[in-house]
Amino acid sequence: MIELKNICYSVKDGEKDKVILDNISCTFSNDCVTAITGQNGSGKSTLTKIIMGIITPTSGKIFFNNIDITNMSIDERARMGLTYAFQQPITFRGITIKELIDIASNEDNSISKACEYLSKVGICAKDYINREFDKTLSGGEQKRIELALTLAKKGKCIIFDEPEAGIDLWSFERLNNIFEKNICYIVVSHQTRLLERANKVLVLEKGKVKMYGDSSKIIKNLSSYQCKRITEA
Ligand SMILES: Nc1ncnc2c1ncn2[C@@H]1O[C@H](COP(=O)(O)OP(=O)(O)O)[C@@H](O)[C@H]1O
Ligand SMILES: [Mg+2]
Repeated sequence: MIELKNICYSVKDGEKDKVILDNISCTFSNDCVTAITGQNGSGKSTLTKIIMGIITPTSGKIFFNNIDITNMSIDERARMGLTYAFQQPITFRGITIKELIDIASNEDNSISKACEYLSKVGICAKDYINREFDKTLSGGEQKRIELALTLAKKGKCIIFDEPEAGIDLWSFERLNNIFEKNICYIVVSHQTRLLERANKVLVLEKGKVKMYGDSSKIIKNLSSYQCKRITEA
């Protein structure tokens, strides 16, 4: 479980402070998929980076399973079970996907075990297991493999920042069982299918919490809110 208490983040913009996150308080429970959504620039990536410790909030506190992690490094957080998948996957030449799965899971997996991770994200494992994780893979393949590597780390809280960027990842049928029990998932996404699959949805607007609640309720409110924005524009 992740608890954010009054998280603020601002950066220097010449003489002034530019406020990027403005007093965010929210709880991300275990056994729950929370989707974070909102317009470009609303602060979604900044919020996930703060949870992972990539950047430090200007004020406010972060708790992970009731332990104050506000001042902990990324490494310390990772050792406690926080896992983060970047918006842009990083590719590696000269290393096979099987080797990357072994590194991510910290064990020498059998081929069939390694294939299981790939099958979960809808990849025909045997065609990929000995390939390198490089730019010869399509954007969608890179995203799926990165998703598999993130899952192989077996974190207790797993954060994905727009894992579907450029592809409709969540529409894929074989992606059904990626969310396991007792884990806290935080997924930044714009895709309706993911929002529908999430238990809770947090909507950010200009660095503030605009809406938060059960996904079905928020999706309903979100569509009228978006219609209103369009008609006002
Ligand atoms: N280090 C920084 N310096 C200046 N502006 C920043 C910095 N980091 C983020 N921002 C700005 O903060 C806003 C939120 O960014 P971000 O969290 O990446 O948005 P999102 O992921 O919702 O699209 C954007 O306007 C972005 O340009
Ligand atoms: Mg972003």
